[in-house]
Amino acid sequence: MELINLYDYEAAARERLPQQAWDYYSSGAHDEITLRENHAAFDRITLRYRVLRDVSTLDTSTTLLGHALSMPVLIAPTAFQRMAHPDGEVATCRAAGAAGTIMVLSTLSNTSMEQVTAAASGPVWFQLYVYRDRDVSTEIVRRAEAAGCTAIVVTVDAPVLGVRERDVRNSFQLPEGLSVENLLPAGKAALPHGAGESGLAQYAASMFDPSLSWSDLEWLSGLTSLPVLIKGIAHPDDARLAVEHGAAGIVVSNHGGRQLDTSPATIDVLPDIVTAVRESEHPDTPILLDGGIRRGTDIVKAIALGADAVCIGRPVLWGLAVDGAGGVTSVLDILRGELETAMALCGCPSVSEIRQMGTELVGRSSA
Ligand code: FNR
Ligand code: LAC
Repeated sequence: MELINLYDYEAAARERLPQQAWDYYSSGAHDEITLRENHAAFDRITLRYRVLRDVSTLDTSTTLLGHALSMPVLIAPTAFQRMAHPDGEVATCRAAGAAGTIMVLSTLSNTSMEQVTAAASGPVWFQLYVYRDRDVSTEIVRRAEAAGCTAIVVTVDAPVLGVRERDVRNSFQLPEGLSVENLLPAGKAALPHGAGESGLAQYAASMFDPSLSWSDLEWLSGLTSLPVLIKGIAHPDDARLAVEHGAAGIVVSNHGGRQLDTSPATIDVLPDIVTAVRESEHPDTPILLDGGIRRGTDIVKAIALGADAVCIGRPVLWGLAVDGAGGVTSVLDILRGELETAMALCGCPSVSEIRQMGTELVGRSSA
């Protein structure tokens, strides 16, 4: 079967992946309500397209924190990519560079950040989990900077790991030979084993710092000259606080529905967050959004509602599982093609024209 959209990649990945890896990648927390809602909420938004606006030349490019991007789509950080393909994070990084976009590399990668940036032909941002042992976090941030990462994205929606019941039932573990590579020097590269428990949830419970608070952002900014973005914002008041605490950008995210189940879909909370940020002292703070982006029209809706760019998580894993770097490239190409089609049919030949049309472009389906 020819794979022509991201759902085809998902189905093909499911056939190829071992059950435990499929469950880990695809699952959400508890009843997976937020997981489903993230995409369902896009489907409830309609596009009020305009006509006769000369769309003979389409330009999907944009800029973000000084980087020129070929399209407003970044690669979200996802852990343990070598479960999907032996080339794992290196493959993702190559595909991101070839596509002219940014890869956000997870703290919990199966490949060290130094190996990933060595293979990079485009920008790599580093996603940070703050460990209880602050010396460990300090060292990781310094290494990310030395390795050439150009931003730190600190994830704040995981003081504890959400309960993914499929991982609990599988007693989730990393396959033989894979580890939390970035934490090898710190001696924290292995997940604990426990029957009837997710090894990752146990790891997070013992390693991640649940005391992390707003005041710690100053500590983090003091460690690095890199811009620090805050990922996991889902409330306008938190967006306001993030900006007040000097965030270089925010990522509106509920972690792909993997943390607090029944938290709202990200696209539904975006408008209030945009208002909060645009009315703040730093109105130009970039706003990214992830969760449920599966079609070019989803990207247009997010931009129209005020996001500067979006990120994709699982679809990258599906591309990896199907064909390594080539699969990730195909996933990005498909999205770019769909984005172009959506822009042409909306009457928006450039990303800035989507922004200009803004909320005029979107409506609510009565369904
Ligand atoms: C994630 N996500 C994530 N986020 C993060 O900050 N650090 C991480 O290590 C991970 N790991 C991770 C693993 C897997 C398997 C998934 C599916 C997700 C969350 C990720 O960055 C992003 O917020 C969501 O994946 C976006 O939703 P979609 O695109 O998967 O619907
Ligand atoms: C996850 C963590 C690692 O969602 O962010 O599995």
